[in-house]
Amino acid sequence: MPSPPPLPLALFLLCPALTFLARQSAAEQKLSPPAPRRPSSSPPPPASSLSARGSRSLRPVLSYFPLFLSCLENLASPDNPAGRIPLCVAENKLVTKGLLSPRMEKALPSACANHQAFTYSDMAGLPELREAAAAFFTAHFKGAVSSSDVLVGSGGSGLLSTAFTLLLSEGDGIIIPAPYYAAFDNDTSVLAGCVPVPLLSENPAAGPTEQELDACLSRSAAPIRMLLLTNPNNPLGVCYTVEQLEMMIRWARSRGLHVLVDEVYALSGFGEGGVAFSSALEVLGGAAGLGEDVHVLYSLSKDFGASGLRTGFLVTGNEQVGTYRARSTRSVKLVDSVPW
Ligand SMILES: Cc1ncc(COP(=O)(O)O)c(C=O)c1O
Repeated sequence: MPSPPPLPLALFLLCPALTFLARQSAAEQKLSPPAPRRPSSSPPPPASSLSARGSRSLRPVLSYFPLFLSCLENLASPDNPAGRIPLCVAENKLVTKGLLSPRMEKALPSACANHQAFTYSDMAGLPELREAAAAFFTAHFKGAVSSSDVLVGSGGSGLLSTAFTLLLSEGDGIIIPAPYYAAFDNDTSVLAGCVPVPLLSENPAAGPTEQELDACLSRSAAPIRMLLLTNPNNPLGVCYTVEQLEMMIRWARSRGLHVLVDEVYALSGFGEGGVAFSSALEVLGGAAGLGEDVHVLYSLSKDFGASGLRTGFLVTGNEQVGTYRARSTRSVKLVDSVPW
């Protein structure tokens, strides 16, 4: 475990309060479900009242998901030693319990005094939060980022789904070096309707060669429009070298593909030995080098051990993605419980 990142993002600490409010109102809604609003003369709903996209999202993309949910109902703890430990989840309890919670408890009362957090404001994210995030990326990812490059969303997963939906079309293929984080199958396909295309390479820890990338591109039945990288890698726990990253980005750009680099484990390296983490932001000389086609994903879930806050960031130079977020009331400032 490296030393934990400093916590310049004081506004994150608003999240627990907002999460609490959101949960409370959801619980109230559960107790008294709203009456159906369909006028009595309207036709009965079709056999499936969901759209094709909605029906697709009910199909179990992740085979282990029901088991995971059953684990959550009976979690192991010192009081419940016979409970279950879901090994499919990456959560950093050391950070949360040891380092973060005292700071959160201290900062929460003053954070709640910021009334802007409770009102409509910038839909791309609360300005102070975006500024704090930009300063965090500039310091820890070693590439200059300004607040206008940062979009805030409801966790990494929600932002992935948004990015695929905005940048790609239904049926487009996304090359993902394997093995990869299992929920990418869900994030790529359920809302966006894209097709994950696993890339099997000779040496997955080092990353695919140019020849392997080319072979995957030409073999794919779906038209490839994106390369999705995870650095540091989940599940392999290794980082790409700068040269490898540069080669993969150059390769994708020369073929007109987007690159999305998922860096949610950026600061959770093992320390000594192995390749150290280098962000795509560092490799490309900051957000200015991302252009319209390279995008970096980050989230509070891993390094900050705060997966329950559902807060993520997309660093992108793509103006249209930024414009969408700035105009969409679906975007979130701090917390949101819907998938985007
Ligand atoms: C590689 C990777 N990306 C994204 C996520 C999703 O993170 P979030 O909690 O921000 O949705 C995970 C969660 O395990 C992950 O491992």
